[in-house]
Amino acid sequence: MLQKPFVVANWKMNHGVKHSVEAAADIVVGLKQIPFTGGVVVCPVDTALMAVQTIVEESPVALGAQDVSWEDTGSFTGEIAPWMLREVGVDYVIVGHSERRKYLNETDEMVNKKTKNALEEGITPIVCVGESFEQRQEGEQEHVVMRQVQKALDGISLGPAHSILFAYEPIWAIGTGQAIDAEEANHMHSVINQILIDHFPDQVVKENTTILYGGSADEKNTPGFLEKQHINGFLVGTASIKSQQFVEVIKAVHNAT
Ligand code: PGA
Repeated sequence: MLQKPFVVANWKMNHGVKHSVEAAADIVVGLKQIPFTGGVVVCPVDTALMAVQTIVEESPVALGAQDVSWEDTGSFTGEIAPWMLREVGVDYVIVGHSERRKYLNETDEMVNKKTKNALEEGITPIVCVGESFEQRQEGEQEHVVMRQVQKALDGISLGPAHSILFAYEPIWAIGTGQAIDAEEANHMHSVINQILIDHFPDQVVKENTTILYGGSADEKNTPGFLEKQHINGFLVGTASIKSQQFVEVIKAVHNAT
């Protein structure tokens, strides 16, 4: 796993340009008080990317997008290619979030193509995987997540300059205020880690991959997750919307690592 922990803010469709800029500025200021050496990434809506970039450049905060096309150019109305994200300073992109899988019918194949396309442009994908409540009740969580990770990685190799992040997000814990048990999350992370070990050389797994937890992660529960072997950061939705709370999450992660 990448040695440094990551804390990623997924603002989803909550902030327009004005609020994204204000939140990013608060985080940049807040981070000055925390000697956090991990990665901090903010993912605003596309319309706010350029404005947020002007706030975070020259700061330790990196810019992420919430989605990317698997195509590079042409007649794909509404889509944005990785090189276009790159043009405005994007270094990370969330791929295959469960909300996109659910509402926009994103398939494992699309997730794979988007992941590949992002990597080819040097953008680090944050690939989201996770089971639904029904799948968990049926005891299918390992099978579901293994399939999602394996399909996302199909045909992918990582060059020394490329990294890939996975975010294990049990769908039934997202936005509920109730994160899952840290030990259970760690078990699912170990399942993902094993696939990474099977797919990539050891050195690549160690230096170019990491696994985040997402699903009601906040400033209170993150330290407990970080005690676990395979959990190395967070994809944060609700607790990232108020910038002060997100800074508290970063502080909690910093203090726990
Ligand atoms: P949540 O969202 O923190 O509100 O559960 C996480 C996510 O959907 O990435």
